[in-house]
Amino acid sequence: MAATSQETPTPDYSQGVAFVNGEFVPIADAKISVLDWGVVRSDCTYDVVHVWKNRFFRLDHHLDRFQRSVAKLRLQLPFDRETLEATLHKCVSMSGLEDAYVSMTCTRGRPAKGVRDPRLAKNNFYCFAVPFVWLATMEQQDVGAHMHISSIPRIPAESVDPTIKNYHWIDMEMSLFEAYENDANFVVLKDRDGNITEGPGYNVFALHNGKWITPDHGVLEGVTRQTVLDLCNELNVTAAPEKMTVEDLRSADEILVTSTAGGVMPVTKLNGRKIGDGTPGPATTRLRQLYWAKHADPAWSKPVRRDI
Ligand SMILES: Cc1ncc(COP(=O)(O)O)c(C=O)c1O
Repeated sequence: MAATSQETPTPDYSQGVAFVNGEFVPIADAKISVLDWGVVRSDCTYDVVHVWKNRFFRLDHHLDRFQRSVAKLRLQLPFDRETLEATLHKCVSMSGLEDAYVSMTCTRGRPAKGVRDPRLAKNNFYCFAVPFVWLATMEQQDVGAHMHISSIPRIPAESVDPTIKNYHWIDMEMSLFEAYENDANFVVLKDRDGNITEGPGYNVFALHNGKWITPDHGVLEGVTRQTVLDLCNELNVTAAPEKMTVEDLRSADEILVTSTAGGVMPVTKLNGRKIGDGTPGPATTRLRQLYWAKHADPAWSKPVRRDI
C-alpha cells in the first residue's frame, strides 16, 4: 500500500513575519490572547520603525523612544536592547521585504486569574515586519492632502501621556469619520485650550514667512518630526516646537504632516480652503526630497542584517 504523504506546507513569510510567544511565524499566524490587558485595557505601548531599500531608518531613535515608553508605563521587556534589535532585524530578514513597516509592542500581559494588581502581571512582547504602509497614496502626496480640524478634542495629555506611543485612539478614530465625511483624508485634533495637537499617526507643521512651527506639547515626539527639525537645521531654515493655534494653521503658507508611515506629506487644503496656491509648496517639496535622500546615508540609516 502506498504511503500517503502528509507534507507540511512551507510557511509563507512573504506577507510579513512576526515574533510572538517566543517564536517567529508568518504574519497570518501571529496571535495573542484576548485576555491580554493590552487588548482589554489598551495597557501597552508600541513603536514603529521603517525599512527602506533594505535599510532601517533612525532605528536608534525608535528604540530609545520605545524603551522610554516601556519604563514610563512600568512595563518590562523580556530581553535586552541588543536582543530586541536583533529580533527586529530577523523579522525583516525572514520576510525578504526590502521596504517594511516594523512594529514592536509591549503589553501588560495578564496577572493570575482573579488578580487585578498590574504589578503582578507577566508582561508580553511581540513585534512584526509587514510591507511598508503609506498614510497617503503617492497621488495624494503629489497633489497634497486635504486636512480637517476635528470638533472632538484630543484626550488630555494629563490623562494619557501622548509622549508614550499608545493605542488610545478613539478620539482620533472618531475624528477620522468626521474628516472623511468632510472630504478630507487627514484630521488634526485640538487640545482643550483650542490649540492644535496632532492626528492619527502623524505630527503637523505650519510654515509662516520661512519659519516652520510644530506643536510643542500634547503630542507624540515623532521621530519624523525630529527628522524634519534636523533637516531644517541642516538647511539653515528656522523650525521650532511652539504653541500652534488654529489661526497659525489657517494662515500658513504651507502645511505638512510627518509620520514613519509615509515621511513628509504635503497638505494643500484645510477645512475646504486652499493653503497657499493649493499645490505642494517649495519648502515642503524640498524637505520631502531630502527626507527620502537621507535613507541611503549611513549617518541616518543602517542595513538590515541578513546573517541572523
Ligand atoms: C499619535 C501619533 N503622533 C505622531 C506620530 C508620528 O510619529 P513618528 O514620526 O515617530 O512615526 C505617530 C506615529 O504613529 C502617532 O501615532
